[in-house]
Amino acid sequence: MNTRTYEEVIASRAFREDLADLNHAIAEGLKRAGEPVAINGNVCYGHMQPDFHLSDLEPGMEPKRRALHLLAQDSTCFVEVGVAGGHAALLALHSNPELKFIGIDLGQRLRASWPPVDIYVPIVFKWLGDRFPGRVKLYMSDALDGLRQAAAEQPFGPIDLLHLDALKKTRIQEVEAVWPGLAGRCYLLQGDNKNGHVQASSEKMIAEGRARRVTSSQFQEIQSATYDVLTTGPDIVASKANFENLMGQRILLCVCHQDDETLFCGSTLSRLKDKADVTVASFFRPAPNRRDTNTREAAMQRVCDAVGARRVQFPFAVEEDHRRLRRFIKMPSEPADNPPELLRPLHRHPLFDLLSGSAFALMQQIRPSTIITHNQVGEYGHIEHVLLHYAVLQAARRYQGANVLSFGVGLPEVDFVVPSWPEQKNQFFDEYMPQWKGRKLYDFALSDEGFVQQDLSVDD
Ligand SMILES: C[S@@+](CC[C@H](N)C(=O)[O-])C[C@H]1O[C@@H](n2cnc3c(N)ncnc32)[C@H](O)[C@@H]1O
Repeated sequence: MNTRTYEEVIASRAFREDLADLNHAIAEGLKRAGEPVAINGNVCYGHMQPDFHLSDLEPGMEPKRRALHLLAQDSTCFVEVGVAGGHAALLALHSNPELKFIGIDLGQRLRASWPPVDIYVPIVFKWLGDRFPGRVKLYMSDALDGLRQAAAEQPFGPIDLLHLDALKKTRIQEVEAVWPGLAGRCYLLQGDNKNGHVQASSEKMIAEGRARRVTSSQFQEIQSATYDVLTTGPDIVASKANFENLMGQRILLCVCHQDDETLFCGSTLSRLKDKADVTVASFFRPAPNRRDTNTREAAMQRVCDAVGARRVQFPFAVEEDHRRLRRFIKMPSEPADNPPELLRPLHRHPLFDLLSGSAFALMQQIRPSTIITHNQVGEYGHIEHVLLHYAVLQAARRYQGANVLSFGVGLPEVDFVVPSWPEQKNQFFDEYMPQWKGRKLYDFALSDEGFVQQDLSVDD
């Protein structure tokens, strides 16, 4: 796989020369037709930006360019609806020299207010075809017709990257039109994401289990209102996360501390009793000098006994002061608004490999089909939860055999909800009493329990 960085691609002579040549071809064509040199907004330039061909790349679109670069490097066949000046195509084809591109554009100026797509789209199609022979296939047609045709013909095999960047109200129909041609898992890059119809289409597909939002930290760092990244395709539908799918499974629940299993998952564990094979592993020993240092493990054992789960306690990590960890993970002051920032590669933290290695060893031993763990915001903002989240995800990537879910607390949306069972949960909290004050401390303690499907396809 090609691993050139975004900076390397953008600064490369080959990309710069192609960009200048493509822009020159568009500009000359527009001038010949007596039109101003301005085109649709795209990943490189603003909408109707005068003399875009003489300008630098638009800084506001840099996050989307970075996202496209990452996605292109992780894909083999890229379909784009709305090629316009070919700038997204050009960046993707340069980001991954193995990538094939299928472009669809109506190429008709349906409204006088539109830029003259009828003039420059044919020029761009010809330029792309000449410059990348054997790597591009172009359909001058309406979005839905072009997608159906691309899915039927599959000139480059299954499609694993889809950029919808033309119409705003038909995104779901567009996904449906191309569905037969999709790979098991296909990235969906939603352009024009400030538009309400576009956002609503993403939410609907997620709610229906047809798509998932990509939540890996690589994309969090470059989040922007201009785009959204989902995964869709038959594999996503097949592994649709829901409570019923947990029945009969071998489940490994990885938590930091004794009581996390109850706080984030107590009702779910109760509902799974005798219906799934559950192991609960806590990775941190109780901190010394707590009022409940010596009672927490026994309390957790009683909870596990009550739900029929095995308990594993790892001895390596002790809950402690977080000064060193804060040099790796910067927790936001407002957890709801911002994800924690990873300041250094986590594997350089002395605990990370130990946690990830232990998790991996346990996965190999237990062979879980589902793994549940902390989420990337650390639920209510606990830094150790964030560390374990990444350690378990890394282990799950090595293990490969399990569907991974995270707790929903602290995340803006969840994939499914398990209704609270307050009586059961209260009994578990009682096991940790009288030292433990969590029921009053955590306002979510008796709420419904949400879970989020984790996407392991993109490395953090
Ligand atoms: C915003 S531009 C695409 C920019 C491009 N994706 C990029 O980032 O470089 C939108 C394009 O969608 C095309 N378009 C508009 N309506 C369409 C339709 N019904 N079917 C296919 N393409 C359409 C327009 O011709 C225009 O070229």
